[in-house]
Amino acid sequence: MDFSVAEVRQILLAADALEREDPLRRAKRLAKRRVALLFYEASTRTRTSFELAAKALGADTTLVSSLSSSIEKGESLKDTGITLQALGAECIILRSPYSGAPYLLAQATGLPVLNAGDGMAEHPSQALLDLRTILQLLGIRASAISEKCLRGITLTICGDVLHSRVARSNALLLPRLGARVILCGPEQLLPKTAERMGPGITIERDFDAALRQSKIVMMLRIQAERLAGLSIDLDDYRRRYQANAGRIAACAPKAPILHPGPIIRGMEITSEVADGPQSAIARQVANGVPIRMALVARALKGGKR
Ligand code: NCD
Repeated sequence: MDFSVAEVRQILLAADALEREDPLRRAKRLAKRRVALLFYEASTRTRTSFELAAKALGADTTLVSSLSSSIEKGESLKDTGITLQALGAECIILRSPYSGAPYLLAQATGLPVLNAGDGMAEHPSQALLDLRTILQLLGIRASAISEKCLRGITLTICGDVLHSRVARSNALLLPRLGARVILCGPEQLLPKTAERMGPGITIERDFDAALRQSKIVMMLRIQAERLAGLSIDLDDYRRRYQANAGRIAACAPKAPILHPGPIIRGMEITSEVADGPQSAIARQVANGVPIRMALVARALKGGKR
């Protein structure tokens, strides 16, 4: 999350403005500009919302996805980027299993690269849409974004924090706006250095205790594809960390429940909670489009056709 607080404010203000704008005028902003989506990992929400966002601004989009390919780091990523550039791409939206891949691609092509999730490192556009959701739920306007705007707000992120780029980007962003972030989950799924990640971040292993302190709750999926030999007792996990109706009613009866998706019903969250009145999951997904419109517009700003 390399954005300054002022840039975060600008992006969220731009998202508001683009969302309000007349769709026909909006579609002239990036008319016929070429945006490539390069996805080396599965994605539903992020890919679709980036694509809809670019199209809403009038851009032509093209998707290259290589789920089953054994793509190597470095060279082949570079070659793919150069190919997309030769085809006229002016901006690349990249999802990669490798941390740091967006920097490599930006270096190789000189093009603006938007990070749609890089390995276990970061997912900045998700943290921005989560922030938009949180501010809406708290009734705070984007214009009020500052180092203090989330002062007094505690948010618990519960689940597979270790492997979650969503957790990392949120834990890097929210404390910079004054929030307190509690990381919760089994020892194997929390980063050992979590408490050193920065001020405003603490660990609480007891989910009920974390919930009781929290104004907002963010649940995470266990990233089965990144567990690399770690074995988790799933019954024990459900018992201790599942967001279920009984636990939420007892410990956080008013807190909105966020989840970046995909949700695994019956594992980290029950259907009752995911579909219940406290769920903010659909709102998060909806916020993906305006946030990504702002990011794509910003990446292409001033660029020549
Ligand atoms: C997440 C991701 O891919 O990092 N999903 C998303 O982009 N909304 C979380 C996950 O895969 O569990």
